[in-house]
Amino acid sequence: MRIPFNRTVIGSKEKKAVMSALERGSIAGGGMFTLNAEKKLENVLGGARVLAATSGTHALEMAAVLSGLKPGDEVVMPSFTYPSTANCILKTGAKPVFADVAAQGMNSGIEEIREKMSGRTRAILSVHYGGLSKDIMEMREMADRDGLVLIEDAAQALGSAASGRHLGTWGDFGCFSFHETKNFKAGEGGALVLGKARENLAERAESIRNGGTDKARFARGQTNHYQWIEEGSMYLPSDILMALLGAQIDEMDSIIEKRLAVFNAYERLLDKYGGCKFIKEYSKAPSGHEAFNAHLFYVVFDSPERRRFFQGQMEKDSIQAFTHYWPLHMSLMGKSMGYHDEDLKRTCEKALSLVRLPLYENLSSEEMEYVVLKADCILREMARGE
Ligand SMILES: Cc1ncc(COP(=O)(O)O)c(C=O)c1O
Repeated sequence: MRIPFNRTVIGSKEKKAVMSALERGSIAGGGMFTLNAEKKLENVLGGARVLAATSGTHALEMAAVLSGLKPGDEVVMPSFTYPSTANCILKTGAKPVFADVAAQGMNSGIEEIREKMSGRTRAILSVHYGGLSKDIMEMREMADRDGLVLIEDAAQALGSAASGRHLGTWGDFGCFSFHETKNFKAGEGGALVLGKARENLAERAESIRNGGTDKARFARGQTNHYQWIEEGSMYLPSDILMALLGAQIDEMDSIIEKRLAVFNAYERLLDKYGGCKFIKEYSKAPSGHEAFNAHLFYVVFDSPERRRFFQGQMEKDSIQAFTHYWPLHMSLMGKSMGYHDEDLKRTCEKALSLVRLPLYENLSSEEMEYVVLKADCILREMARGE
């Protein structure tokens, strides 16, 4: 048996939706399927205003522009994230300032963010790693109190909620991804959520998404001709992809349920070894979240060597287990910005010692049992050598 790290299987409902978009003969962005997908997301998110986008990256770029960031501004964000989280800031001329991960979990909490704030801090960018948030309510309160913009990189977090609100709706702006590796897939795709206080920016967001024009108003018959209004780009996804996304959103509950079954099985296994010194931490279903989307399952070992050993043994059993982000402050780009590995020690140690187990909704129970069995054997051997 070979267990890949990720597997994409497109169901019959998704295929039917894509065929209807093709047969309709109108496949550009902003059509019926885009509007439908946006409505479905708005329902899921309790009525927040949603604009579909071509990717999570592009949703972040729109958020950065709408935040009014400019050269000289600083944005505090985690180093342990995907480069798009920082690129969107650089594109505005502002500077990303990297924060360490918290002692527990793989997010930066309010303490780590606060440590990196200065008089130039204009925004906080919080990343919800694995669909989990840390201190998001406190960050909202701090942003309100200090006049900062709060952006949520909720690329992995659709379907999770904390402290009474859906993740992605706490911020002035929330950004989701529908990349093939996410819980809900369009191949490539994303969405920008406007926080309640930012809904007045909806027309501007539409214009930035549509070449810097008022084409969306023109399509609604609100103007006789469309024109160039401001600097923009093309961030509007094709109706074909939005048909696929709409069908995936319909399946949301069942996708999460299947992912949770795998997550819970891994958590039960790791609980057996939780007291062992060679395991620093592992994914835990959160207690402070009303909803959790089980996006990924990670284990942090006590050293990169131990992680490599586990990963190698899994590979011998034909199971793909992957590390994750190379921290941004340790990347070539981060180094060119003046960072050194030891600047964020905890991020460095934890990121290099982290491994993720295969987790997707179409992992069969037989495959899941195989992963649990093999991982159990490897962990038992490691525990014996302790
Ligand atoms: C935390 C995070 N932010 C942003 C992105 C970018 O999303 P996309 O691939 O849809 O551009 C990703 C995707 O991998 C991500 O994991």
